[in-house]
Amino acid sequence: YESFKGRDMLSLHDFTPQEIAVILDLAGKLKSKQKKGVPHPYLAGKTLGMIFQKSSTRTRVSFEVGMYQLGGRALYLNANDIQLGRGESIADTARVLSRYLDGIMIRTYAQADVEELARYADIPVINGLTDRLHPCQILADLQTIREHKGALPGLKLAYVGDGNNVCHSLLFGCAKTGMQISVASPPGYQPDEGIVALARQDAVQTGGRVEILNDPVQAVTAADVVVTDVWASMGQEAEQAVRAEVFTPYQVNEELVRHAKTDFIFLHCLPAHRGEEVAAAVIDGPHSVVWDEAENRLHAQKAVMALVMG
Ligand code: CP
Ligand code: NVA
Repeated sequence: YESFKGRDMLSLHDFTPQEIAVILDLAGKLKSKQKKGVPHPYLAGKTLGMIFQKSSTRTRVSFEVGMYQLGGRALYLNANDIQLGRGESIADTARVLSRYLDGIMIRTYAQADVEELARYADIPVINGLTDRLHPCQILADLQTIREHKGALPGLKLAYVGDGNNVCHSLLFGCAKTGMQISVASPPGYQPDEGIVALARQDAVQTGGRVEILNDPVQAVTAADVVVTDVWASMGQEAEQAVRAEVFTPYQVNEELVRHAKTDFIFLHCLPAHRGEEVAAAVIDGPHSVVWDEAENRLHAQKAVMALVMG
């Protein structure tokens, strides 16, 4: 576990396949300890600060509860309530918080802001979602896939929809674990080319595969895992109407998932919009594992915090 001490979790690309396996193994161990009521106070006396510039249900609650279960505590810091919201610099905020806290989780817009915070902080910084990446979500997704499908290498994951933060982190997560990821997005809404190139490099090491498509049927065909996400992410509210039109052919519904393997599982990071990116019959149907997925945010993030803050 030594290689994790003091590290930031800004992107899954920064971690080796072996390190990602260590996180997932520990997440599974912490989950079973929690279920059995076995105490695991790996972060006794430690404090996590959680800076939020966007809304959250899962991230906020799972980090806060996770710290409590690890024997520490967490502080909710709404970015508008702290001086950051009145123009105190990210660098100064990082330097000051480093004198009080043992770790910082931040949810904001620009990935560059999270990187700047990490540069000036002496303590680990965890990315709780930016416009570009959502690594903690994808650790929970990988844990969930492993629970339901066993070993990850060779599995096919289809991501249908916007080439957004969730899609980007899935590209890294699948590439790092030897999975095949097929992304189907409308032209103009495809994942960032730089991220796709890095994910392709990651996949070379693991035998994974990265496929970027426009056709949802082609992506979903023979998939073990089908994933989608909201069409307009936080910060894109003004584009909602345009996006609703562009993405209509990309709805994950019963007709589309007929092309997946008969025992496929469906994932969605939530919050979901039934009748938009996903039909109720799919997200509320027998293949959906979204509640396990949401729960695993807790266990996966506890593993990350124990490793980097322990
Ligand atoms: N999936 C996810 O990050 O949810 P929240 O926005 O509720 O944190
Ligand atoms: N892509 C979504 C994920 C929400 C958890 C967003 O950024 O709003």
